[in-house]
This record gives sequence, C-alpha cells and structure tokens, in this order.
Amino acid sequence: MPVVERIVLVGVSGSGKSTVGRVVAAGLGWASLDTDAAIEAARGRSVPELFATEGEAAFRGWERETLLAAVARASVVIATGGGATVDPAVWGPDGLGRAGTLVVGLDVSPAVAIARMAEQHRRDGVTTDRPLLAGDDPVGRMAAMKAVRQRAYDRAGITLIVDRVGADEVAAEIRGMVVAADDGALPGITLDAPSGSSRIVVAPGSLARLGTLARERWPRAGRVWIVTDDRVGPLHVPAATAALGEAGFTPAIVTVPTGEGSKSLRWLGAVYDRLLGDGIERGDLVVALGGGVVGDLAGFAAATCLRGVGLVQVPTSLLAMVDSSMGGKTGINHAVGKNLIGAFYQPPLVVADPALLATLPERELVSGWAEVIKHAVIQASTPEGERNDLLPFLERNATRLATLGEPALSYAIRRNVALKAAVVTADEREAGIRAYLNFGHTLGHAIEAAGYRLLHGEAIALGMRAAARIGAAVETCDEGTVARLDALLDAYGLPRTTEADADAVLALMGSDKKRAAGRQRWVLPATGGGVCLREDVPEGVVRGALGAVIGRAMG
Ligand SMILES: NC(=O)c1ccc[n+]([C@@H]2O[C@H](COP(=O)([O-])OP(=O)(O)OC[C@H]3O[C@@H](n4cnc5c(N)ncnc54)[C@H](O)[C@@H]3O)[C@@H](O)[C@H]2O)c1
Repeated sequence: MPVVERIVLVGVSGSGKSTVGRVVAAGLGWASLDTDAAIEAARGRSVPELFATEGEAAFRGWERETLLAAVARASVVIATGGGATVDPAVWGPDGLGRAGTLVVGLDVSPAVAIARMAEQHRRDGVTTDRPLLAGDDPVGRMAAMKAVRQRAYDRAGITLIVDRVGADEVAAEIRGMVVAADDGALPGITLDAPSGSSRIVVAPGSLARLGTLARERWPRAGRVWIVTDDRVGPLHVPAATAALGEAGFTPAIVTVPTGEGSKSLRWLGAVYDRLLGDGIERGDLVVALGGGVVGDLAGFAAATCLRGVGLVQVPTSLLAMVDSSMGGKTGINHAVGKNLIGAFYQPPLVVADPALLATLPERELVSGWAEVIKHAVIQASTPEGERNDLLPFLERNATRLATLGEPALSYAIRRNVALKAAVVTADEREAGIRAYLNFGHTLGHAIEAAGYRLLHGEAIALGMRAAARIGAAVETCDEGTVARLDALLDAYGLPRTTEADADAVLALMGSDKKRAAGRQRWVLPATGGGVCLREDVPEGVVRGALGAVIGRAMG
C-alpha cells in the first residue's frame, strides 16, 4: 500500500467536507485547508460575492490554482469546494492524481445536504449555500447539480455514505485508512459472544504481523500447526511461516485438498491424526490459513481436539474474510447435508489481510461479494441499522471494489466484519437476529446441495434473488426492492440463473437444518429496508420464485 501523504475530500456542499477535514487533520496532526475559505481569505470577499462580482469562470480559475497548490503539500487534509473537482484538469498527475493522494468522496443525499446547510445557516449565520442553489426548490436543484457532478466525485478512491454518520465518526474512519495504509497500529474489531470473544484485525499487510498478534494473545504458546489447502498453501504459507517465526513460533504445516470435499469426516480424521500424532497440547495453536473450507474444518478440529486448543483464523478468500472466519461456527458436512456436524468455537484472533485477495481466482472473488451484499440487505435489521449505509456504499463503490481498489476494499471488509460481529455479539446461538444472516441461504443451500457446480456465493446470490421475489409476492417488500437487489448482484457479476431441477431443490430444502419446528423459515426483504422472518410462504409462491432463477433466463 502506498503511504498516504495528503487527503482530499470531495462532494457536494453540505456533505461535511470542511468539518470532517478539520477533525481528520487534528487527529493526524496535519494541516487543514478549505479551498473556499482560502479563496475568501485571499480575495477578502465571500464566495457568493465573488461569484456575483467576478463571475463563475474567474472563481473556478482561483479554485483550480488553490487546489493544485494545496496538493503539492504533504501532511494536509484538503476540503474542496463542491464544484472544484468537475474540471478534469485537477485530476492530473500534478493534481488529485499525485502519488500519495487519497481522494475521499463524501456522499450525502440532496435533502440531507440542504437540511445541514440550512441548520448551519441558522446556527452560525453563515451562508455556505452556493449561489447555484439560490431560489425555489433547493433540494431539486441540489439533486440536479449532484447528478451532473457525480462523475467527477466517482473518481475518488473511496466514497463514504455520510447521511446518518456524524462528522467525528466519518473522520475516525478516514484516519483509520491512513493508519492502515501506513501499516502502523492495527485497529481491531471486537466480537464478544457468550462462548468467547474474538479480536479481528483487518488491514492490508497484516499477515506480516501474524506472529506478533498471536504472541500478544498467547504469550507462552510454543507449537503451531498451520492448516491450509493445496492451493493456498504454496501461495501464502511462506509469508505466514516467516511472520510466525519472527515471534518465536516454529509452525508445522497440515495440507488438505482444495474444495468442499475436505469438510468431511475423512479429512477431519486426517487433521486429528496429524495434530494428535505430533502430540498437540492444550496451550498450542492451530492457524487456519485458507477460505471457508479450511476455516470450518480447522476450526472444528481446534474446537474438539483435547476439548479445545488455541485457534487463529487467517481467512484468504473474500467470503472467509467477511463471513466464515468469524462468528464461531465451525464444522464439516455429512452425506445428509452441509454443515450438519459442528460446534460453536470463537477464534480469539482473526487476522484478515485484504492484500491476499490478489491471488484469489476471479470467480471466487465474485462469489464472495454475495455475502457482502447479503450483509448490506440485512443491515437495517441489525445493531448497525442506524447507519444503513452499506447498500449505497456497495452501489457507489462497485467499480473500485470489483478491482480490489484500496482503501475501498479494506473498508468494505472492515464494515462487514463490524456488522457480523455486532450480530453475533447480540445473538451467538441464532435465537433471534443471527437468523437474518441466512438471507438467501434457504434456497441457496438447497441449490448448492443439489450439486449444480455453483460456488457457495453464486448459489446464495440466486437464493437472494428468489427470496426477494418471494418477498414481493407475499408483500414484505415491493418490486423496487427486487430490482435494486438484482442490479447490485449484477454489478458485482453474480449469476442471474442456473440450470436446475426445481423438484430436487425443493426436496433438498426439506432437509435444511434451519427449519423451525418442521416449517420452512424464510428471511425476506422488508419494505423500507432490512429483512423479516416468515414461515407461512405457500409452496406455489416458492416455486414461482425458484422458476425465476432456475432453468430459464430472467427477463
Ligand atoms: N462458518 C461460517 O460461518 C460459514 C459462513 C459462510 C460459509 N461457510 C463455508 O465456507 C465455505 C466456502 O468458503 P470459500 O468460498 O472461502 O471456499 P474455499 O475455502 O473452498 O475457497 C475457495 C477456493 O479459493 C481458493 N483460495 C482461497 N483463498 C485463496 C487465495 N488468497 N489465493 C488463491 N486461492 C485461494 C481455495 O483454495 C479454494 O479453491 C463453505 O464450506 C461454506 O459452508 C462457513
């Protein structure tokens, strides 16, 4: 990760650039510069006066000069005027494209922007309102202006949705991106469940700190077994071994074949044979280095060997980073169904290094986005619901995320981890809201189990599309919700349909272990955001929704 030397905030007036900029700068000990304020100070007149007397073209010229001079400096946070970044010239290598420049978009809905500006005017008597906004229907004018400028704002390295998030919190997140990029202090997210708590570190380059982080948690542990698969092992075991070695660990390597087949009694037996054969003791550690398969298998082995040994999850797939490596569910499959043998076992430490995703095959990456989108849909129904920003964040940042652009990638993973941690902290054993994490899984698991060569996330994507259609049919949500979800899944490259036998899929749903008292429990999108649980969905509705995702192309 390149070191960030300066931060530039872009977005419409009312998005909070000046306030956030000051707070970020104070936190980092950097200078803070507001291009509008700098022009006003240099010209001795307010922006509206300058617009009125000198005209917009002259103002834009000063704005460009001010911005280009500011980005030549280091250790500075720059808040730009709302129109300053529309000129393509400011994005060149001497401008916002300068190495070491992190451009952060602050995205706010027009109504919230206007309300904030009006509030500031009432409070401070300051007219931050741009002349362009004068007159009737300010929200409509703001919406029109934002639409025109959005292409420029979308060139930012990351766009944060700030409608419901206070300036201090936005500033803390931006500071976190600089700290993570510098690979300095690694912030951790805490998951506190009845069975144990996890410290989850998400930062590019964190694999190199694996040994230090493990040593902090287990000061006296001696022996470590890295469990991995035969694809991940050759790519990432050397770095993991080196990092552990620096902290005085000498890891042994246990390799299983790649693929779901390793989540089996046979391969669990092979892992036990190795750990017990080597004389593992309770104070020793298992490091699960891999995707969800390795995490589930090695996690279950760690949970059950000697009734529990130390466990570090080092997820290497996107799905594992945002979902399976945390929350404590571990286990293997049985011929009767997936994940039917398992245990809850919280890993005390999870180290997620998004840089490892560079080697993940494209199709696996796309599959991982399904769980991220699932989290975004359920967010409004979780303890993180107040913010309700994940869905628009994924919509706004789709292009950057699909190409693993930082800091958007790490931010997306961190926010997903925080959401899942909050859900599991509230309900480890799935007595309540943890069931929402099964959105898309009722049909998804059945499609997956029917053996249609789909990856987990691909099957879940189809399950979510079908669940949304069920929701529209039984009126938990409207058609707009279905269209928005479809568009988001499309944007991340997830499948629309698969060839499958509806009867086989429905029969497999009958053996899903998540049925409540023999009835199928559905997690369906809710009107106004989030999800709800329903157990009264007629089979005809399920068949209709299933028909939309299997056997034929969707309209
Ligand atoms: N425990 C939970 O809460 C939970 C939640 C969701 C899913 N799961 C389970 O997770 C499993 C799916 O996980 P997955 O999608 O990670 O599958 P996976 O573990 O099979 O990994 C996918 C593929 O990518 C390869 N891979 C992983 N990381 C790589 C990297 N950085 N570079 C190159 N190749 C890499 C693997 O070798 C494998 O071939 C399923 O078994 C599912 O049931 C568990």
